[in-house]
Amino acid sequence: MTIIVTGGAGFIGGNFVHYMLKKYPQDRIVCIDKLTYAGNMSTLAGVMDNENFKFYKTDICDRVAICEIFETEKPDVVINFAAESHVDRSIENPEVFLQTNILGTQVLMDACRKYGIGRYHQVSTDEVYGDLPLDRPDLFFTEETPIHTSSPYSSSKAGADLLVLAYHRTYGLPVTISRCSNNYGPYHFPEKLIPLMIANALNDKALPVYGEGLNVRDWLYVEDHCKAIDLIVRKGRVGEVYNVGGHNEKRNIDIVKIILKELGKPESLITYVADRKGHDMRYAIDPTKISRELGWLPETKFEDGIKKTIAWYLENREWWENIISGEYQNYYEKMYGDRK
Ligand code: NAD
Ligand code: TYD
Repeated sequence: MTIIVTGGAGFIGGNFVHYMLKKYPQDRIVCIDKLTYAGNMSTLAGVMDNENFKFYKTDICDRVAICEIFETEKPDVVINFAAESHVDRSIENPEVFLQTNILGTQVLMDACRKYGIGRYHQVSTDEVYGDLPLDRPDLFFTEETPIHTSSPYSSSKAGADLLVLAYHRTYGLPVTISRCSNNYGPYHFPEKLIPLMIANALNDKALPVYGEGLNVRDWLYVEDHCKAIDLIVRKGRVGEVYNVGGHNEKRNIDIVKIILKELGKPESLITYVADRKGHDMRYAIDPTKISRELGWLPETKFEDGIKKTIAWYLENREWWENIISGEYQNYYEKMYGDRK
């Protein structure tokens, strides 16, 4: 089987490439990635020599180039991880989010139609459901929860999801969608909460907590997400959406304190800064459907996953230090410089 993985030089796509090449050594993985600021070839260094792996530096919005790759590689399955993925950046500049996340999805699906691909899988997010209140711990996102987005990022992901379902209904494209909660683990770009806090703590820099740090996210170890996508692609029902999450809700401030404790750093590094505009309060996934239909269950407990993640950042300093020594400095200054 030949699988196209877009966005494979990013966090989750990169983990997925490693997971798949190890689990299915007979399958071919063809990675398409534009290598934006979030894409890192060092994430893929360990597989570049694998004869069942091929890399194309290509924009998913480039229709001609995408069709050429499909023509050459004749994929059986296409899994779309490529996206602009950071909420804070989408607040600064929404345009590229609409281009990549919506129009890029359309280009990929048009190519799937043209070449009769057996499965198109869209990697989506629980953020398409908006947020839940803190005082209703009984509420969870199910696949029936209405789409109700807050940020330009989540709106662009929701737009793409609607388009994917429309391509299924209108053209009969064999699609599936997964909507996962927040991931953490190796190769996570240090603009996101967990890797940013680990990197700053290791450098004895302030840890910028938005608002009061009371917002809740539902954290899943990235390998559990990879397993879920693999299952959905192989056994999931066409035209269906599957929520993915492990009932692991934590307040941001508690995450930050766990990281400081693991690293033996003082809580005095915590600095409360201005809140994110339109900040979603709580995300919480009900994973009943994927558990019941496909037998998926999360395998890594948060206490173990966060230790493994911190150990990875300690052992792979070069990976993240290279990132934060470059253009990231300008980003950091712009986002956090005078954020009071
Ligand atoms: P990421 O930002 O780490 O990686 C995105 C990758 O896509 C990068 O390698 C980047 O170079 C590539 N890319 C961006 N624009 C492209 C384009 N136009 N053409 C080709 N490649 C392009 O993102 P991530 O955290 O790995 O997220 C992957 C997917 O999972 C996204 O679709 C995201 O919406 C979704 N998701 C993420 C999370 C999370 O917690 N990170 C949770 C649920 C869903
Ligand atoms: P993030 O990792 O950006 O993921 P998302 O917003 O997609 O859930 O942020 C996770 C939470 O952490 C979110 O509530 C915002 C908060 N946060 C901070 O408090 N400080 C930070 O520097 C960052 C990046 C995020």
